[in-house]
Formats: sequence, C-alpha cells, structure tokens
Amino acid sequence: MRRLAGKVAMVTSAGSAIGAAIARRLHAEGACVVAFDWSGAEDGIVAELNELRAGAVGVRGDIRKGDDVRRAVATAVERFGKLDVLVNNAGIAVPLRRVTETSEDDFDRGMAINARGVFLGMKHSIQAMIETSPGSGSVINTASTQSIDGMANMVACCGSKGAVALMTKAVAVEVAPLGIRVNAVCPGPTGTDIKVNSSRTAVALPDEAKTQTGSRAVTVDEAAIRSMVPIGRVCGGAPLPAVMSP
Ligand SMILES: NC(=O)c1ccc[n+]([C@@H]2O[C@H](COP(=O)([O-])OP(=O)(O)OC[C@H]3O[C@@H](n4cnc5c(N)ncnc54)[C@H](O)[C@@H]3O)[C@@H](O)[C@H]2O)c1
Repeated sequence: MRRLAGKVAMVTSAGSAIGAAIARRLHAEGACVVAFDWSGAEDGIVAELNELRAGAVGVRGDIRKGDDVRRAVATAVERFGKLDVLVNNAGIAVPLRRVTETSEDDFDRGMAINARGVFLGMKHSIQAMIETSPGSGSVINTASTQSIDGMANMVACCGSKGAVALMTKAVAVEVAPLGIRVNAVCPGPTGTDIKVNSSRTAVALPDEAKTQTGSRAVTVDEAAIRSMVPIGRVCGGAPLPAVMSP
C-alpha cells in the first residue's frame, strides 16, 4: 500500500546513510522526493529512485546556506506543485573532545550544520507548506539521543542536537494551529559514516579514555556504545565482541 501517494517530500542529506534510507522509504510509499545534499551522492539516489518510478529530483547545496535551502524548496514546488513533508536530516558529528580542547571552529561547524541547518529547513519549507498545501504539512527533524542526554566530550554535538529538540517543540506549538505537525526523532548510535568518523576521533583522546577490560583494550567509543545501548550494538551494525569482566 502506498501511504504517501500524491505527497511531496524533501529530505536533507539524502545522499547517503540515514537520509538515503529515508528517501528510499518515502519514495516506496508513493511520495515524490526532493533529495538535498552537498556531496553529489544525491544524484545516485535520484537515479536509483527514478529507475523504479519517476518522481525524484536532486538539489545540491549546503544546509548552512539559506539561499540553497530556499532553492531546494522552490524546486519541490516548481517540479511537483507543492511541499507536504520535510525530513530535516542533515547533521554531522563533531570530533569527540573535552570542552577545554574543543576548537571554536568545530563548535561553530556543529552549530551551523546541526542547528542552523534545521532552522533554515523549517523556515523555508513551512512557508511553502502554508502557501502550497494549506491546513497540512509535516516536518520531521533528525535529533539524537544527544538531544536528551548529556554526554562527555560532546559539547558541540549535545549543544547543537539539544537545540534541535527545543526548536522542534517551539515551532510545533507555533504552527500547530495551521495544521502543520513538527516532530523529532532521536536515533541512537547508528552504523553510518558519522559513527565511523567519531570512532576514529576516539583514538585522539587521552590514554585514560581507553580502558583495559579483560585481555582487550576497549576504545572510549565502544565503551560509550555499551553504556548507551544495552543490546551492545549500533543500529544496523553487528554486535560488539563480548568483553570479559576485569
Ligand atoms: N549515525 C548515528 O549514530 C546518528 C545518531 C544520532 C543522530 N544521527 C543524526 O542522523 C542524521 C544523519 O546521520 P548519518 O549517520 O546518516 O550521517 P552521515 O555522516 O553518514 O551522512 C551525512 C550526510 O549529510 C550530508 N551533509 C553533511 N553536511 C552537509 C551540509 N552542510 N549540507 C548538505 N548536506 C550535508 C553528507 O554529504 C552525507 O550525505 C544526522 O542529523 C545525525 O546527527 C546519527
């Protein structure tokens, strides 16, 4: 059953990983899809979707730039006549660092992509929903468990994803009277490039961030996953190897 037949959805960072999976699912449910990404990988997703059924278009742009986001929303309206759904998914992992060692550049980059990007997505897509699909619309912001829990060495990630959670609530109450729903999803650790990259940054942490458990050194990343995910594996990933008690 195609539950989204006749709907038009835009997905930010649709070129890979979680965003690509969301774009595929929306398209499989019958929606027309605007796939936004800055990498060029959105072209591959769009080709894959159009091979199955027409109704996908790619827009290359930077989520931090209002003009790029406005252009993507305009593309949805020009190509498909309206915008019903925004999946505000673009986000990055800032390298794991103590607050005292987090650079201003890394902090600003996290806030710009994770928080400002979500703001820009809502700003431009909600205006289009009001104009082209009055009385309805749905925004889904990709937040994180970092939106809810304070985690060590993640001041920029928790700060920016915490902002996503409260922006979601603020805009939800603002536009509910217009019939537009605004929600957030909070994924836990998921086996994508973000996770691989943040694992790599774990080796840059001081030695005490690595613990010796049984006969094996456990990186802070593995230890963090174990403490965050009782089942002991990331979403879409294999279980971590068993660790013996010390
Ligand atoms: N993977 C996880 O463990 C995890 C956990 C919680 C939340 N999340 C969130 O889920 C979302 C997707 O994460 P993912 O793991 O699929 O990420 P990923 O790093 O695997 O992919 C990110 C995508 O975003 C695009 N992108 C990055 N910066 C961009 C920019 N400035 N403009 C446009 N596109 C840009 C990249 O090109 C890439 O296609 C993010 O918001 C992330 O914070 C991920």
